[in-house]
Amino acid sequence: MTDSTAQEILRVGRSPALRGVCSVPGDKSISHRALLFGALCQGQVEIHGLGLGGDNASTAGALRALGVKVHVSGATAVVHGQGISGLRQARTELDCGNSGTTMRLFCGLLAGRPFQTTLTGDPSLSRRPMGRVAKPLRMMGARIDGRIDPQRPEGVLPPLVISGGNLHGIDYGLPVASAQLKSALVLAGLQATGKTSIEEPGLSRDHTERMLRFLGAPIHADAATRKVVVDPSGWNGVLTASTVDVPGDLSSAAFLLVAAAVVPDSDVTVENVGLNPTRTGVIDALLAMGANLEVVQTAEAMGEPVGRVRVRWAGPLRAARISGDLALRSIDEIPALAIACALAQGRSEFADVGELRVKESDRIASIARELARAGIDVEQTATGFFVQGTGGAAPKGGHVLPDRDHRIAMAGAVLGLLSDEETSVPSEDIATSFPTFAEILQTLGANLKI
Ligand code: S3P
Repeated sequence: MTDSTAQEILRVGRSPALRGVCSVPGDKSISHRALLFGALCQGQVEIHGLGLGGDNASTAGALRALGVKVHVSGATAVVHGQGISGLRQARTELDCGNSGTTMRLFCGLLAGRPFQTTLTGDPSLSRRPMGRVAKPLRMMGARIDGRIDPQRPEGVLPPLVISGGNLHGIDYGLPVASAQLKSALVLAGLQATGKTSIEEPGLSRDHTERMLRFLGAPIHADAATRKVVVDPSGWNGVLTASTVDVPGDLSSAAFLLVAAAVVPDSDVTVENVGLNPTRTGVIDALLAMGANLEVVQTAEAMGEPVGRVRVRWAGPLRAARISGDLALRSIDEIPALAIACALAQGRSEFADVGELRVKESDRIASIARELARAGIDVEQTATGFFVQGTGGAAPKGGHVLPDRDHRIAMAGAVLGLLSDEETSVPSEDIATSFPTFAEILQTLGANLKI
């Protein structure tokens, strides 16, 4: 008889040098967009290097529920796009699982469709704020109902019921730099009458702008002013089907890069990884901390730079201050960078990262809890935290509590590579973004029991 409460546990011990060349699964953000925008194309879109995680599977499942044929076989997918008007009302709720990107991008897409859709998510996603996307979409003419969020004025929580159609363009200043929100408004803007103009307080990842431009959408983006304009007047409504090559996910690679920077004598190369400048804050932060890191751009795929990153251990890292644009460009890598700082010399500061409080878990609280558990001195602020590095001294082991957050689980595992005691990590949620995490680390020489 199987115990239905049994959890998958990853056991991590002090590891010898990590060495080798590897690649990581396809970029999660780009994979979501390849699937979704593929469905909006006219014709068959073949995707190579698709992300293998649960979040991307949620996007594929949501598209299928809307009548789109999506065949996934390993890292290759074929999407039979029938244009935006080819989407059909779903007979069931759309389950977005753990994926904020799925829920927010589908909000924008479905705000323009003349039918009703219900979007649901797992307990973690059901706690995440949706008012930020509901508010501008309502201004554009959509009806969006959700649960009342007691924590925020005008707050809305999933499940969301969207009744779309008859949108008109708006000029909107985003309250936070967010690619999910920006992308939702772009998708709504493509279906609206008139122009939609979106301005961000900081430049969030721009995969949507790059891919849609590539596919022929009427979108203009200016990185300097952080403004995106969608103007469908005069557009024939057709996105041209194309083959999409998805680069490896730098957010997944970040855990391997940090591991190589902190485990003595390591030398790890990650090949074919996305190097979009809105995402490379982790590389800049590690370089500023004194890591021996080499980056070589080897290709470009759909306007996205792709390359190889090599990290060779070079002794203890220096403390860092990660704030502003650097923090935004490494927002998903903060859990990995927090581990680098926990082992560095000196006190590091993470500022301007209040958005971490509304990720898959409250990541500021999760990071603080896990570092404290490992005996590392950490102090939270409302929108950031300070970490007193050990200078390379071993952290304590113990049991990681990821709070259903894949990146907290992986960060806990990387910290465990330096501990003389065992670290146990509930590993099931790692598959949200990086199902081959443990396997790849093990191949590089990490002391892991899977
Ligand atoms: C993502 C945008 C970011 C990021 C998330 C993926 C995307 O979220 O943290 O993991 O693919 O658009 P926000 O838009 O909430 O900043």
